[in-house]
Amino acid sequence: MSSLEFRDVGVTFGFGPGALRAVDGVNLQVPDGTVVGLVGESGSGKSTLARAAVGLAPLTTGSITVDGTPIPRRGTRPVQMIFQDPVAALDPRMTIGASLGEALAVAGVRGRRDRGRQIGRLLEQVHLDPELAVRPPAALSGGQRQRVALARALAAEPKVMIADEITSALDVSVQGAVLNLIRELRRDLGLSMLFISHNLAVVRYVSDLIAVMYLGRIVEIAPTEQLINDPQHPYTRLLLSTAPRLGATLSAGRLPDGVRDVEPADPHDPPTGCSFHPRCPVGPAVDPGRTDCVTDDPFLSIDERPHRAACLYAGRHSLRKDPA
Ligand SMILES: Nc1ncnc2c1ncn2[C@@H]1O[C@H](COP(=O)(O)OP(=O)(O)OP(=O)(O)O)[C@@H](O)[C@H]1O
Ligand code: SF4
Ligand SMILES: [Mg+2]
Repeated sequence: MSSLEFRDVGVTFGFGPGALRAVDGVNLQVPDGTVVGLVGESGSGKSTLARAAVGLAPLTTGSITVDGTPIPRRGTRPVQMIFQDPVAALDPRMTIGASLGEALAVAGVRGRRDRGRQIGRLLEQVHLDPELAVRPPAALSGGQRQRVALARALAAEPKVMIADEITSALDVSVQGAVLNLIRELRRDLGLSMLFISHNLAVVRYVSDLIAVMYLGRIVEIAPTEQLINDPQHPYTRLLLSTAPRLGATLSAGRLPDGVRDVEPADPHDPPTGCSFHPRCPVGPAVDPGRTDCVTDDPFLSIDERPHRAACLYAGRHSLRKDPA
């Protein structure tokens, strides 16, 4: 597959004082053959960033490229997206086979027989019985429908895939099988993927790298185990220590001493400097000397370091009481 690159990507909804900067100067790369997990609280801009890559949200700044080339607005789509709700993704009036056939036709596969063969191959690739091709989506379980949505995306032979909360609506009992399928496709097809989920355990299971988003920004990115074992940004640390399922609001009862959680910031009017500063357990709310957090923007630019954190004090503090 190929690499997907976001450079200084911004998406603003609305104008004037009511404008909302849902995505703000994001620099992020999904390298060839890599699964990058994207986590962050509800409203942090994960879906907006993903939608921007498939032309569903307009860029206000920056560029999104695949292998260095801007994503074309027309013709074959190099980036394919799969959504949370596989029911909405499939036309209820079409059989599974017809749905896949349509995607293959768009991808330029001519001839009924060729398409028929490929429909069988795609269903096998996602571990579904090719016999299901004659069935309507309603005859399938949620997990099976999500596999069909995946097969439909694969039919387009995309260079990169984006998965937005694709296991969130599934029973826990079938989530694992879908995640194993993602891992297998990554291994067998060299899939490049941006994998979005609230659930850190889910993201950890499939991702080579994890990026953490807060108020439209990427605040930390690192190889998966490094992010889990040695988080540098206070927000990442809080998420890891207080919310096993990301997206849950930070629970005040479990914050470090002296830190009171405040309402998540108003995205229409984000705090100055580091936008995490009113909530930061090692920032100015706790250490009044850290006035630079209120004035300086710890912007995460693109560079070669595998582990980066957008914090003025990254690596110079610890949330643990007894630093190990
Ligand atoms: N079309 C739109 N018009 C106006 N505001 C929008 C639009 N889409 C998203 N937003 C706002 O942009 C911000 C980011 O939303 P987004 O859906 O990208 O977050 P998310 O991280 O995907 O959240 P979740 O985890 O709940 O899916 C939110 O404040 C949201 O209300
Ligand atoms: S820059 Fe300051 S407020 Fe922001 S995360 Fe780092 S320590 Fe906290
Ligand atoms: Mg979302």
